[in-house]
Amino acid sequence: MTSETLHFEAPRGMRDFYPEDMDVRNAIFAAWTRAARQFGFAQYDACVVESLDLLKRKSGEEIIDQIYAFQDKSGRELALRPEMTPTLARLIAARQGGLTFPLKWFALAQCFRYERMSRGRKREHYQWNLDIVGEPSLAAEAEVLACALHALSLLGLEANDARVHFSNRALLADLLLKFNIPAAHHPATFLALDKRGKIPDEEITKLLKTAGLDDSHLESVFKITGIQSLDQAQAVLEGTPASLLATRTLTALMADYGLSDRIRFDIGVVRGLGYYTGIVFEAFDVDKKFRAIFGGGRYDRLLEDVGGKPLPAVGLGFGDVVIAELLADKGKPGDHRERLDMAIGFMEDSQQPIAVQIAQALRLTGKTVEGALHAEKPRHFFARVGKGGVRQALYLGPDDLARGSVRVKDLENRTETEIPLNVIRTPERASP
Ligand code: HAM
Repeated sequence: MTSETLHFEAPRGMRDFYPEDMDVRNAIFAAWTRAARQFGFAQYDACVVESLDLLKRKSGEEIIDQIYAFQDKSGRELALRPEMTPTLARLIAARQGGLTFPLKWFALAQCFRYERMSRGRKREHYQWNLDIVGEPSLAAEAEVLACALHALSLLGLEANDARVHFSNRALLADLLLKFNIPAAHHPATFLALDKRGKIPDEEITKLLKTAGLDDSHLESVFKITGIQSLDQAQAVLEGTPASLLATRTLTALMADYGLSDRIRFDIGVVRGLGYYTGIVFEAFDVDKKFRAIFGGGRYDRLLEDVGGKPLPAVGLGFGDVVIAELLADKGKPGDHRERLDMAIGFMEDSQQPIAVQIAQALRLTGKTVEGALHAEKPRHFFARVGKGGVRQALYLGPDDLARGSVRVKDLENRTETEIPLNVIRTPERASP
């Protein structure tokens, strides 16, 4: 390769979206937006560039090493956001006095993380953020989960395709305390346990030792991770602390939504971000072939941490990469293309003005229309528009104009309809 060779690939981990990729992306965005609206969430957005300081202080620890940071020309320390949650906290803290709580907000946020590239992980992704701020009850967890599961259903993924695994950091903390593992060790223990299944258990052991746990603690931690149900957790705890009650309450609330079969308790879900304080969850395809589809939980201290008044909060991030892989794997929801209603072609330059007028008249009735930009043979026109992206085709030749009517071909069921020209034509253009 010479130094003058052009590289056509996007920078490693970054993404280009050709029209067929946009069809998939738009189908996913449409499902996210529709679900959020159906559940009464209001959309917000914010700048992709954030202050590095906010991100460093408030992003999950896991993310801090992955931040794309830079200085602007005045030496400000800035970064491309790796996640939306610190920004959401900033927006709410800035207007806290004027907002009505609980608020339900969603965003479609482009995020950047300098990650080790693997399946389901890129350095740029879009993330649907769904958050409820100001609601301390478990109803908030149930609502964001029901909404995210609704989006999965809109994309054709049901109970036998994907489910939510959930746990509670407060419950895990109670279990650790029961085994005399002091609270000071909990944050590092959570982060180590989040890595289970991703790295060998020997590595987890090393991480736990670094966090200050001794051999007896290690044995207890692995015993805790073997807990399979809330009943087992209750037996270990020899009682029903608030954390266990809350975890049971979520199961009951999800039943009210008719979604019991979509969630399961899984003590192994801890999450890698430090700011979660209660319920945590991750959704996976049922065969666990892919990375997490979405993840989130309760983060009751973040608002206070960015300098706002204390406010409870729950939310989730749902990326576009894993869901696109899963949909492709399942062949769902089939064809993502947005079909055009009509394509219009013409044989000779003299028919162009009428073709344009028909196209405009149809657009004014709300139809989507692609008008040819130059004359072409019928063979070329029908070969071009007959590839499945168009419902109907209208081709103008001199005979049609003489007859005063045009033939509209339905490309899906191969029927033809004759329509008088005066019905679909806008008035002639004024002479120049
Ligand atoms: P997270 O688990 O880091 O949480 O990311 C949420 C989701 O974003 C993941 O489950 C995955 O779908 C997607 N995602 C994350 N990183 C990548 C990547 N490098 N490539 C492709 N997809 C990715 C958060 O970001 C939290 N801020 C979510 C949240 C909102 N918690 C409360 N509110």
